[in-house]
Amino acid sequence: MSDRISSVLTEHRQFPPSTDARKGAHISGAAALKRLKAKADADPVAFWEGAARALHWQAPWKQALQWKVPQAKWFVGGRLNAAENCLDRHLQTPRANKAALIWEGEPGETRTLTYRQLHRDVSRFANVLLGLGVKKGDVVGIYMGMVPEAVVAMLACARIGATHNVVFGGFSADAVAERMNDSGAVVLITQDVAMRRGTTVELKLAADAAAKRCRGLKHLIVFRRGNGTVPMKAGRDHWWHELMEAAPATCPPVGLDAEHPLFILYTSGSTGKPKGILHTTGGYLTQAAWTHKHIFDLRDDDVYFCTADIGWITGHSYIVYGPLANGATVVMYEGAPTYPEPDRFWAMIERHAVTIFYTAPTAIRAFMKSGESWPRRYDLSSLRLLGTVGEPINPEAWMWYHSVIGGGRCPIVDTWWQTETGAIMISPLPGATTTTPGTATQPLPGILADVVHKDGTPCKPNEGGLLVITHPWPSMLRTIFGNDERYRQTYWSEFPKSRTCPGWYFTGDGARKDKKGNIWIIGRVDDVVNVSGHRLGTAEIESALVSHKTVAEAAVVARPDEVKGNALVAFVTLKHGVAPKNLDRLKAELREHVGAEIGHIAKPDEIRFAEALPKTRSGKIMRRLLRELVTGGAVQGDTTTLEDLSVLETLRADED
Ligand code: PRX
Repeated sequence: MSDRISSVLTEHRQFPPSTDARKGAHISGAAALKRLKAKADADPVAFWEGAARALHWQAPWKQALQWKVPQAKWFVGGRLNAAENCLDRHLQTPRANKAALIWEGEPGETRTLTYRQLHRDVSRFANVLLGLGVKKGDVVGIYMGMVPEAVVAMLACARIGATHNVVFGGFSADAVAERMNDSGAVVLITQDVAMRRGTTVELKLAADAAAKRCRGLKHLIVFRRGNGTVPMKAGRDHWWHELMEAAPATCPPVGLDAEHPLFILYTSGSTGKPKGILHTTGGYLTQAAWTHKHIFDLRDDDVYFCTADIGWITGHSYIVYGPLANGATVVMYEGAPTYPEPDRFWAMIERHAVTIFYTAPTAIRAFMKSGESWPRRYDLSSLRLLGTVGEPINPEAWMWYHSVIGGGRCPIVDTWWQTETGAIMISPLPGATTTTPGTATQPLPGILADVVHKDGTPCKPNEGGLLVITHPWPSMLRTIFGNDERYRQTYWSEFPKSRTCPGWYFTGDGARKDKKGNIWIIGRVDDVVNVSGHRLGTAEIESALVSHKTVAEAAVVARPDEVKGNALVAFVTLKHGVAPKNLDRLKAELREHVGAEIGHIAKPDEIRFAEALPKTRSGKIMRRLLRELVTGGAVQGDTTTLEDLSVLETLRADED
């Protein structure tokens, strides 16, 4: 059987950078990028050293990279503090009184924290942690919603050298307990309640249930977001505001080794037990800051809105560390995008005159589904740049984003990266790259990536293969917390160091590179199916389905088939207001449509209409569950990361 992945989606529309996008850009024009890339790729270490010099170091590094596969150390011997870089160094500049965070609560209130104010709160809270006995190297859990205090808590940890472990506020007590125990956390910071979809989420009660099973947890700090009517356990639980009142407002940032662990973040991907991804300080901050500045082409007067949750890596790197290191103004939103109506983001863009907007394809598709009359009500003319992250964006959604949200004038940066990579790796640079809907284009300067066969030989143009990173990069994960062997197995065993290979990082993604060198992500290799000897990326078939006028979202999985090896089953949700009279006719039409878009081999054998698809809390479709549903008829695997269990119940009921 061939190991080749057939990639069959073709898309040729091209969007070169406009004169406006080139004007004043940090990297302006294709020729400038080409020169920069040639130099950086020839000596990535020197390139990243240059990027690191944009940070404030308490002591310079002695060696830029120490690399013994798969252990990397960047900026060895250097000392710095991430919170000092995000806060203190702006205080000597006109940015001191600039808004660092503009926060909007779900009920509608707003709060602005300038760099000076954020610095004061972080220093106070750092003293609170020290007062509770937290020491350098201790792990501190953060289980909060999207409130400024979550950012304060993260930076306060960084200030004293504690390692934070943020757990997404939508996770259950079980998930919190597992992550606290695995990381050995000593303190957990939470809220009485969080605000979500017009109601309250009982975070403190969940934290209590988790704490019962975590022997190492000594203290719970509770931020009062609601009315504060939650049980408090004497000696263990403390109110945030009471501790803050008593804490001094100065706390010098400690100088930390460049390789000091900044945070652990558990991945909640679609498969397996969560992995504690460990990121360190100097390399992580270098790449987070460089990418944020250049990919979003940041200017001092920008208002930047990233819709991710700080419980995910995007929130860590592109709400907190990257933007604040660059002295940006960050808009932060507490609640659901559809509250009270599906226009919340557009209203916020108008209200805060947002210039840069960064969101996920799943959100874009949801907005497409609710219709363009919502964004049309608002003045979105402040926007000048759009970004996406998290999964391949189907060209249909890209075009909608481009025309309806971006007014046809904003470049779109489709940014490919992972929790493990810490920062963006493949992306257009808006003043220099010609974009095409559906591709994240090319690796950044200083990032060496390739698409190869299983035996390590490079794929020919447009031949599908495996995406690998062939040279270490500053913000790479250093290990899976407490499990070096799983780290090596998961990422470094597919292409280990050998006579012919220096040892490559395997991303787990299938991809193809076109003739221009643009990389098209086909999806996780777990989501690649073999039909009649062709390995097809389910993402491409989904993309074809979604390009049909009736379809809002689609997920394609395989079930074993005697003849073809696998048969394709497509779960399809229809757009609002689409009510076909004849479902069978629509099924046939969709199959023909995929046949026309991609080819006969990709036509789904079966199409099932669904009200909704099962998703992780970060919005990724859980194809694993659908796969189990179509193969065994029942779902036995782990469903703890599923956002809405009722979706699965409905799909199961449809089955019966
Ligand atoms: O499959 C790729 C997909 O998301 C995976 C990483 O997921 P996670 O660690 O949760 O991080 C998401 C936020 C960085 C990748 O292996 N992915 C992410 N961005 C893109 C993408 N697939 C295609 N295009 C992207 N822009």
